[in-house]
Amino acid sequence: MITVDSIQALREQVRQARQNGQRIALVPTMGNLHAGHMSLIETARQHADFIVASIFVNPLQFGPNEDLDSYPRTLADDQDKLRAAGCALLFTPTDALMYPQGMAKHTLVHVPDVSEGLCGGSRPGHFDGVATVVSKLFNMVQPDLAVFGEKDFQQLAVIRKMVSELNMPIEIIGAPIVRDTDGLALSSRNGYLDAAQRKTAPALHECLQQSVARIQSGERDYNALLQQTAAALIAAGMQPDYLELREAYSLQPASADSRQLVILAAASLGKTRLIDNIAFAVNP
Ligand code: PAJ
Repeated sequence: MITVDSIQALREQVRQARQNGQRIALVPTMGNLHAGHMSLIETARQHADFIVASIFVNPLQFGPNEDLDSYPRTLADDQDKLRAAGCALLFTPTDALMYPQGMAKHTLVHVPDVSEGLCGGSRPGHFDGVATVVSKLFNMVQPDLAVFGEKDFQQLAVIRKMVSELNMPIEIIGAPIVRDTDGLALSSRNGYLDAAQRKTAPALHECLQQSVARIQSGERDYNALLQQTAAALIAAGMQPDYLELREAYSLQPASADSRQLVILAAASLGKTRLIDNIAFAVNP
């Protein structure tokens, strides 16, 4: 695996791969790679010949009081994992390369509607930062396809809408959430949890699972159900930020007639913000 940190070197490597007739996949990340990220590489390998990963802790998608400075940076470990997984090329741009004139006056990509509410409500500007950096990475690499995790369900919806509406010739593949044995969705932010918080954290997934089970056994008073689920989260020691039922994929509010749903939640455990979701079908 080759690691490059200039656009010129990146393009040269990709050009050679394309000249060899290889299909090119991009897996964008912020590093501190875990089995969730590695599953994206695996999915990419099933659909492409030449896998490009990027590691960039994108300052444009962090709010002023968020964890940009403390976000874990573990490049040497990440390189070992990517090499072992069969990644061909790693792109590690610096802030100066991505935002040479700074971020304040940079062109922004805003994806209306799906960026609003949920994580977009609690993290103003977050999805503009994500859509902008992903557009830049897409333009730099020009992959045939890119893989994103369903763990960040709203992010995936934002990327799909952006690619469709901006006519980007890139296939977007969603990969299922990878969880720890106790159900906690793997996340770089799980490393912030102390031992007691780590024991509490699977409650987020358990509460979502219980809500899904109740809906699948016929419960249709979604407001009451969500209130009870939020109360259960608080009782478990978590502070819900949002807990919502939406139509899967469009992310429009769910009605009693919706058949493809997703329940999404963000909750704080001490200073750590965790997110999770379950997409599921409802029988009429
Ligand atoms: P990051 O949080 O590093 O995640 C990179 C990719 O890994 C995303 O597509 C995310 O959904 C996926 N991922 C993370 N945890 C996962 C899990 N447990 N199971 C499956 N997939 C998982 O998401 C970002 O970085 C950034 O916003 C980025 C898209 C790179 C733009 O800066």
